[in-house]
Amino acid sequence: MIATLVPEPGRTPIREVYRAFAGTPHTPLDHGAFDRASYDPASVAEARARWKKRMVDEYTSTTVFSALVAQVVEANASIDASAVALKMAADELRHAEICGQVVVALGGSSRARRETTVRPIAVHPSCGPEERALRNVLTTCLSEMYSIAFFVASLDRMEDPYLRAVTRELLTDEVLHGRFGFYYLEGCGDWLASRPDVRASVSRYLRYVFAVCEREFVREPRARAGADDDALGLVPSDLARDVFLDTMESAVAPGLERFGLDATRAWRDRALA
Ligand SMILES: [Fe+2]
Ligand SMILES: [Fe+2]
Repeated sequence: MIATLVPEPGRTPIREVYRAFAGTPHTPLDHGAFDRASYDPASVAEARARWKKRMVDEYTSTTVFSALVAQVVEANASIDASAVALKMAADELRHAEICGQVVVALGGSSRARRETTVRPIAVHPSCGPEERALRNVLTTCLSEMYSIAFFVASLDRMEDPYLRAVTRELLTDEVLHGRFGFYYLEGCGDWLASRPDVRASVSRYLRYVFAVCEREFVREPRARAGADDDALGLVPSDLARDVFLDTMESAVAPGLERFGLDATRAWRDRALA
């Protein structure tokens, strides 16, 4: 079904509970103001479109983390790991709200048409509950690690103070989201160390998930939108590709190797089949 996303709290007392729970202030976040007149309108329009897309993506990724909560509980993960998975689901809703505020600051409407059908996360029928949860935790880890690197690349070029403040706020959460996979692996340490079959199976799975991420994140080159793309933190597609490749090869794969996973080879042999 197609419906309109309105990324703002409603008018009932649930709003106050959300504010307290999500840790956001009652009025729009204090990031200062965006000075639209200072920038090339073509770059502003492109930034607005990208923040709007990000808003919908953040909202949707809540469903991934909330489904993951059920899987880590099923895997009998520690109570803190389950609670932090739940927090990450809530973070993504808050990120959608923040992105909506950015779209408005950039001169747009934060309302967006979106497909509401929830894509279920993989159930990996051949795996037991521990490996099933671990595979999906690692899947989110890969994409969140890319998010971190992408935000850093964006901040590297971005000059606008309002957008810098917002991006840094999102980045703080994404750093946790990216690290969660490594922390989770640490929690599985003894269990995984005594199961070479699971390590081999997860390593084989990584070949596929690396390829899926590459398909998802590496985009066709596109032209610059305007003279102020850099100032507004618009990452060019060739840089985004390099950031993705470098993050997977130099950060994610070596990080996963530390837990006995054959991740470097999985990255090298990545394939969708
Ligand atoms: Fe997010
Ligand atoms: Fe995230």
